[in-house]
Amino acid sequence: MIAPSILAADFSKLGELVREVAEAGADRIHVDVMDGHFVPNLSMGAVVVKGLRPVTKIPLEVHLMVEDPGRFLDGFVKAGADALIVHLEVLPDPRPMIEQIRGLGKKVGLAFNPDMPVQRVEPYLRDIDLALCMTVFPGFGGQAFIPESLDRLKALRALVEKHNPACEIEVDGGIDAKTIGAASAAGASVFVAGTAVFGARNGPAAAVKDLAALAK
Ligand code: DX5
Ligand code: ZN
Repeated sequence: MIAPSILAADFSKLGELVREVAEAGADRIHVDVMDGHFVPNLSMGAVVVKGLRPVTKIPLEVHLMVEDPGRFLDGFVKAGADALIVHLEVLPDPRPMIEQIRGLGKKVGLAFNPDMPVQRVEPYLRDIDLALCMTVFPGFGGQAFIPESLDRLKALRALVEKHNPACEIEVDGGIDAKTIGAASAAGASVFVAGTAVFGARNGPAAAVKDLAALAK
């Protein structure tokens, strides 16, 4: 499954580009939300989800790279988000947050940075729909895939098979034609790609198709 990250898109043509990748077979749209605190960058908020909602029927997943995600959940749900992904780093006890998102009727994702041991997500695998393994340190698009991520993905795949095989394993950061095959072989099932889709020389539609073929 391919999840184009609009962070790398030309925002003057956002609707058009999202329509294009959805028609090319993208499975969902990845919306990167940054607060300038949890990560050293600012990006976008719920207004962008609201603007995109009428453009496509495919799910809109929101990756909350923010210090205090609980404050923003309602706003994103009202705007039309289908899945909310929060970071383990900011949640001493993730369970109330998981419950809160469930209560809103949305899919729950738990994300964690490259320096977080994958075992930290193990106790929650039964209760989530998606584990998002960061393959770069979040904050910016266009960074290089961290090769050590492959071992982390293998370990995570084993944990997911043990506790909840239905839980998706998503990778985010530096996914392109060179890295997607290895990430897939290591156990990932959903692939976020920003630069490799919206910066592709042959255009975003062709890039989505090429990446999907390489992920198999
Ligand atoms: C990184 C974001 C990613 C980013 C991926 O902070 O979470 O979703 O947009 O961009 P690429 O695919 O360019 O590495
Ligand atoms: Zn992301």
